[in-house]
Amino acid sequence: MAKVKTAFFCQNCGAQSARWIGKCPSCGEWNTYTEEVLEKPGTGKSRIDTRKASPARPRLLTEIEAREEQRFTSANKELDRVLGGGIVPGALVLVGGEPGIGKSTLMLQVALNIRGKKVLYISGEESELQIKMRAERLGLQQSECYILTETNTENIFHHIADNDPDLLVIDSIQTLTTSSIESSAGSISQIRECASEFQKFAKENGVPVFLIGHITKEGSLAGPKLLEHMVDTVLQFEGDHNHVYRILRSQKNRFGSTSELGIFEMRSDGLREVSNPSEILLTSRDEPLSGITVSATIEGMRPVLIETQALISTAAYGTPQRSSTGFDVRRLNMLLAVLEKRCGFRLSIKDVFLNITGGLRVDDPAIDLGVICAVLSSSEDVAVSDKACFAAEVGLTGEIRPVTRIEQRIAEAQKLGFEEIFISKYSLKGIDKAGYTIKIHPVSKVEQVFSLLFG
Ligand code: TYD
Ligand code: MG
Repeated sequence: MAKVKTAFFCQNCGAQSARWIGKCPSCGEWNTYTEEVLEKPGTGKSRIDTRKASPARPRLLTEIEAREEQRFTSANKELDRVLGGGIVPGALVLVGGEPGIGKSTLMLQVALNIRGKKVLYISGEESELQIKMRAERLGLQQSECYILTETNTENIFHHIADNDPDLLVIDSIQTLTTSSIESSAGSISQIRECASEFQKFAKENGVPVFLIGHITKEGSLAGPKLLEHMVDTVLQFEGDHNHVYRILRSQKNRFGSTSELGIFEMRSDGLREVSNPSEILLTSRDEPLSGITVSATIEGMRPVLIETQALISTAAYGTPQRSSTGFDVRRLNMLLAVLEKRCGFRLSIKDVFLNITGGLRVDDPAIDLGVICAVLSSSEDVAVSDKACFAAEVGLTGEIRPVTRIEQRIAEAQKLGFEEIFISKYSLKGIDKAGYTIKIHPVSKVEQVFSLLFG
């Protein structure tokens, strides 16, 4: 009897080994190797013909026509933006995110909204009826969207050959299996094999394919370091379940910038594109409250005004707590140490809680000054004017450092009705203060901001 071929795969990074090993030499994780069957005796390697067109031949680069403007719109501005200006034919896009974040909703919405393209939506997770119910909930009906509930790739390619779609959505890559491989759905070798079949299909036929992928608790795509290499674009859908905002980031993009991001609001009738994030992220206040500041940050290519809330209270137990949502807690500790050392605030005996409203996560260092001022405002119990805005980084010596694209930040703050903005003195170079109606406060030291705000 022919021997069953097996190999061991690291479930974290996808590395392959002929024998079991305790610690993965490639990613360093422990106990991640499991045995998977590579090939059933008798069946060869995958023999699926994914090709619709004639076989490829070598061609001169100059012979190949550049057809840049072939991108087509997904009818969703935020998704188009993150993709770098629309869907590229033949692109393989991976959409990752935690369960329940809205990946299926987003892709179904795109599938139903797109005009003039035949879409095949393949679901291995939900039944036809469930998808129908979801589509009804979204209030969308479109004749050119076909639904297929199937998990076997051989069958899927048969249907693709009959159906001839212009866009393919796979929900999700972890549910697919190919019969040329024995191991169970969602295992590394299955994911790799299925993804490479779709990669081949996308490239050979110029049909864009969206693969939905789940994310493990640790935040990495399950299985999928290897998927990240295979696909052209990796989009990450994230957000806090308790909040309505969802953010679509691009982590890798062969056809555009990775700094773009799309913002959505999850509503009872689906995801709504948020084209002007600042207006929603700022809460309207009737009276100024202590511990709240607004910072002008840049998310992707867009300026976004973000509200920071801080609460400082006396530590109830011996060890003070530091907790932060949406902001790196190590950076918060650093800023608190700066306040302690440079300005003499005794924060080491206080509990500090920090929250970025809207469930956003901010990495832009320009929020530093806003964070410090929120902390000071709560600690002094003196409100910062709700017409003031901040945009500067804070260094270890307490100096206020300049940030990039300051003009865009100032313009956004002015547009939204702020009356003053605190920026670094060193940001002033080359900007025309007289050109703005908003009052610009150039500052160079944390102490200086403190005396300006709280006297
Ligand atoms: P879903 O797209 O199923 O998530 P994923 O595919 O990423 O696992 O999203 C499910 C969540 O979205 C669910 O908690 C309900 C919510 N939801 C809405 O709030 N409004 C809607 O219109 C839809 C369709 C879902
Ligand atoms: Mg889903």
